[in-house]
Amino acid sequence: MNVFRTKSIARMLEGAQKQGLKKTLGAVDLVLLGIGCIIGTGIFVLTGVAAANYAGPAIVLSFVLSGLACGFAALAYAELSSMVPVAGSAYTFAYVSLGEIIAFFVGWCLVCEYTVGAATVAVGWSGYVVGLLKSADIILPAAWTTVPSAGGIVNLPAVLVVIVLTYLLVLGTKESATLNKVLVFVKLVCVGVFLFLATSHVNPVNWTPFFPFGVSGVAGGAAIVFFAYIGFDAVATAAEECKNPNRDIPIGIVGSLIVCTLLYIAVSAVLTGVVPYSLLNNSEPVAFALRSIGMDFGSAIVAVGAICGITTVLLVMMYGQTRVFLAMARDGMVPKKMVRIHPKYGTPHVTTIATGVVVCLLSGLLPIKVIAELCNMGTLFAFCMVSLGVLVLRIRQPKAERPFRCPAVWLVAPLGVFFCGYLIANLPLDTFLFFGTWCLIGLIVYFVYSRFHSELAISKQR
Ligand code: ALA
Repeated sequence: MNVFRTKSIARMLEGAQKQGLKKTLGAVDLVLLGIGCIIGTGIFVLTGVAAANYAGPAIVLSFVLSGLACGFAALAYAELSSMVPVAGSAYTFAYVSLGEIIAFFVGWCLVCEYTVGAATVAVGWSGYVVGLLKSADIILPAAWTTVPSAGGIVNLPAVLVVIVLTYLLVLGTKESATLNKVLVFVKLVCVGVFLFLATSHVNPVNWTPFFPFGVSGVAGGAAIVFFAYIGFDAVATAAEECKNPNRDIPIGIVGSLIVCTLLYIAVSAVLTGVVPYSLLNNSEPVAFALRSIGMDFGSAIVAVGAICGITTVLLVMMYGQTRVFLAMARDGMVPKKMVRIHPKYGTPHVTTIATGVVVCLLSGLLPIKVIAELCNMGTLFAFCMVSLGVLVLRIRQPKAERPFRCPAVWLVAPLGVFFCGYLIANLPLDTFLFFGTWCLIGLIVYFVYSRFHSELAISKQR
């Protein structure tokens, strides 16, 4: 049995057509979906942590470095998603270009990205909400807001928000997209409020020394703040629900990434200009910076915005995971029952609920650091594979229709692999161990289940 067998683009599209997801999303919906998934815990929490511990004021350059890695990968995503607009994103692209076992591996990485990432974000959400309640003198019992390894029982706020969002996702994409739009608007306003209030308080003295941890600090910071960019690729998972996917998916991917990169560079420059970087190692650095210049009201607005922002990330990440499962189940990689569509709501309710349960367990019981790093690792691997996949398809299927062509692909795609590989190399050792274990489990699942139930394997036997 050839584990490197590939699936044709035509067959992928046929499978998607049969699935019959409702087509409700346009280009603006997709850019907002992307922003909804991108701006969250990364900018609102990790910027401060990374500036204080890794890069200092040069965190701006860490954002540029990570942004470049994502930009190269985004162009590869844009080309492939315009060619194969089906829900599986990187998984699907790997299936048509690199072969089944790699596709399965990429799907497995995407679970790290979306499910583990959603859990990370839920923990961040819980932290902000607990902090905001505390500032209103409402103290929740620590046992119910911390994970067992930190002496608690369960992170209940994280579990509760996941349950509510799972319910919304079962109700329907259009409804979720509407909520997403409102929350994206709120968080963009809050980022704007921060920039507006803080820019005039920038003191260039805070930017010296610019490289307190040297150049290696910039790279370490980039590997952490990479989390802030995760999400633009979730746009590709919405392909089957788009009215005009070939045109709108590339717009959604590249558009949302450009908007967020510019905002991140501005926010991180202003943040480190307003407060000395060494003070930013706290759970709400953006709100903290405003408080430290006497803008308490602005700080409260930003805190609320951060909570809204983080909510949308959670929503889109869980959405993305269900769509990846959908594509994998359709191909027989995971049990087919998971792709059943709800007769009334038109959404894959079984997958959605299964994802919700796993995210609840991870976010309720595991520490944020472990799951955040695992999420970065899985995502970076998936980005590498997509960058490779675009090259392989250019060689194998040079004449295939490409509504969007990655410019200078022979330069851009290898740079994508190089930059993402560089960020992987800058992750801590324990992340490699966790990820290695995760991959090993994946290999077992593939060889015990997926390889035999794969639609390609079954159709060959007939
Ligand atoms: N980019 C997302 C965030 O920062 C995952 O929360």
